[in-house]
Amino acid sequence: MKTKHVVDLADLSHEELLDIIRLANDIRLHPADYSDTCRGKILATLFYEPSTRTQMSFKTAMLRLGGSIIGFDNPQNSSVSKGESLKDTITVVGGYADIIAIRHPLEGTAAAAAMYSASPVINAGDGGHLHPTQTLTDVVTLYNEMGGLENLTIGLCGDLKNGRTVHSLIKTMSTFKGNRFVLISTPELTVPQYIKDIINSSDCGYVEVPSLSEAMPMLDVLYMTRIQRERFASEEEYRRQNGVFVLDKEKLRGAKKTMRILHPLPRVDEIDVEVDYDERAKYFIQTVYGMYGRMALMIRMLESGNRRTAARVMPTHPIRCCNPKCITASEKYLPAVFREAGGDMLLCRYCDGRTLV
Ligand code: NCD
Repeated sequence: MKTKHVVDLADLSHEELLDIIRLANDIRLHPADYSDTCRGKILATLFYEPSTRTQMSFKTAMLRLGGSIIGFDNPQNSSVSKGESLKDTITVVGGYADIIAIRHPLEGTAAAAAMYSASPVINAGDGGHLHPTQTLTDVVTLYNEMGGLENLTIGLCGDLKNGRTVHSLIKTMSTFKGNRFVLISTPELTVPQYIKDIINSSDCGYVEVPSLSEAMPMLDVLYMTRIQRERFASEEEYRRQNGVFVLDKEKLRGAKKTMRILHPLPRVDEIDVEVDYDERAKYFIQTVYGMYGRMALMIRMLESGNRRTAARVMPTHPIRCCNPKCITASEKYLPAVFREAGGDMLLCRYCDGRTLV
């Protein structure tokens, strides 16, 4: 693999991604052949935000490959509670572990961590921004359940604004030929503009639809998501959005027999429990595919030898990112780094937030 870190799944080429999917399938079919592949390797999981599946599947993946695990799932039990910076934590852990999976509530944290880590960093979710290994989970599922990653009409429903799994999935699937996105949300929770720009600059297209029933007949895949309560400014705002879209048996009547229902989980109440018994529901098997996907990803990252190279710190821009949820807003020593986005607009290299010059 060319890249050292996986902050965004776009860090991988199509060939690399397809190789990882095929390797995940081979591990699933022949697990015993891989039970010593990472013997002697250590994974650190640094979870500054709650997680069940992502953290446990990373740990299980490393244990099943014969490796070991260290880390924390509550930063209050680490020196973070004493005020340690991300830079210092990562510098130290990068010296202990061979590979790091990090989850953090602020956007752009994994990109910042990658700047200071001697060991490869995997983004396990950075605020409402990206979640590449959930997308890996999703593409392993689609590859196996749909027979490929092209020419799919994919409905995404729920909190498309704050759902990092949605952003990562659209980014990746818009790089494959002939895909079309049906965005089902309230006007308040539609995808961020930068994601629409990504679709517009690809060969894929999108439509925005206000109701699940209206979207249902056209879909090959329905990707349901929960409303991201923890990303709302107030409980009242959350309540206004929660419960608007609920998938139940009745609504499924309008769907294709071959449609597949995915969900990154956790589910709150956006999928009725009776749907679990419909053969189109794939959200539990999706979690298993995810573990094999993470096993394959870590094997490829560890064997590529892209380790222990010195971090390169970039020169800082005079303007700071204006996204209050960006990691640069709290870790002030981080250099401000942008990409040109046309006109007077700059895109933050960490969080993809737009800042006017
Ligand atoms: C997702 C996440 O954390 O973004 N969960 C997961 O990793 N499987 C989705 C969510 O929390 O809604």
